[in-house]
Amino acid sequence: MSNDVVIEAWNTVLFEKFSRFKYLFIEGYAEISKEALARHKHAEGASVLDVGCGFGDTTIAIAKTVGPDGVARGVDCASNFIAECSAEATRDGVTNAEFFVADVEREDLQGPYDEAFARFGTMFFMMPGLAMRNIRKALKPGGKFTQVVWRKREDNLWLHDAELCVKKIVPVVSHEETDAVHCGPGPFSMAGPDMVSDMLQSVGFERVQFERFDSDICIGRSLDEAIQFALEIGPAGEIIRLAGDEGERLKPDVLKALEGVIGKYVREDGSVWAPSSAWFVTAYNPT
Ligand SMILES: C[S@@+](CC[C@H](N)C(=O)[O-])C[C@H]1O[C@@H](n2cnc3c(N)ncnc32)[C@H](O)[C@@H]1O
Repeated sequence: MSNDVVIEAWNTVLFEKFSRFKYLFIEGYAEISKEALARHKHAEGASVLDVGCGFGDTTIAIAKTVGPDGVARGVDCASNFIAECSAEATRDGVTNAEFFVADVEREDLQGPYDEAFARFGTMFFMMPGLAMRNIRKALKPGGKFTQVVWRKREDNLWLHDAELCVKKIVPVVSHEETDAVHCGPGPFSMAGPDMVSDMLQSVGFERVQFERFDSDICIGRSLDEAIQFALEIGPAGEIIRLAGDEGERLKPDVLKALEGVIGKYVREDGSVWAPSSAWFVTAYNPT
């Protein structure tokens, strides 16, 4: 399967969806990356690569930590995301955050870096082993790679229950059965520590460690927004989109069913917060 399909998806349909829910991605995921970046703090003056940087908010946060003598460089395969990142860094007055477009699996990552970081930026690679090897090669000897990835589905029920709910209503079309662009493997592709540690070691990383981090995250400022978010983002959204016209036709039924799934997370003030669980995975390039 060509990566071009995935890159086109991130530049078009997924970029549009992520833009619509930008607030939730940036605010909702901020607590998770704040904790990861606090536990694995980058040193002042360090050079850091931010893999699959999306809107670049983590790249900008890292740039502030490493200070003017350091640099944070965000890479993403989608030029639309990168254009937003550069504009945001300018608005924020951050001059040591840089951004470039590249496919992390196969292109030059402009190293060497002291460290690499990724918040939910590594779960969608078609060939994750190639990407991990490329990241390791972009690190200096002894360089550390910290990734935030989702843990198992059963501990991220706001995504998983929505997926199960949609599957009961909408026929599932596999990537092989459609010409539609898609996001590659799903958000849980890096949830298994055995598989992930084997993969990291097989491409030359060492001292692989996993730390579990559970937190409630905001998935909507209102129930309507949370339902739309669950409907469009993650496995549920992909199932509906790939089902084409049939997916669109069945959307009202799905919306109704999702109300039951998501409704239980509504707080008194109307905002919606769901339990989530992530791994902070660290690994080192040998010295
Ligand atoms: C779930 S988003 C995460 C974005 C951001 N790190 C965040 O936490 O909001 C995954 C990102 O990885 C990027 N991506 C996917 N495959 C990639 C590849 N092969 N090379 C570079 N970036 C890739 C996508 O364009 C997207 O911006």
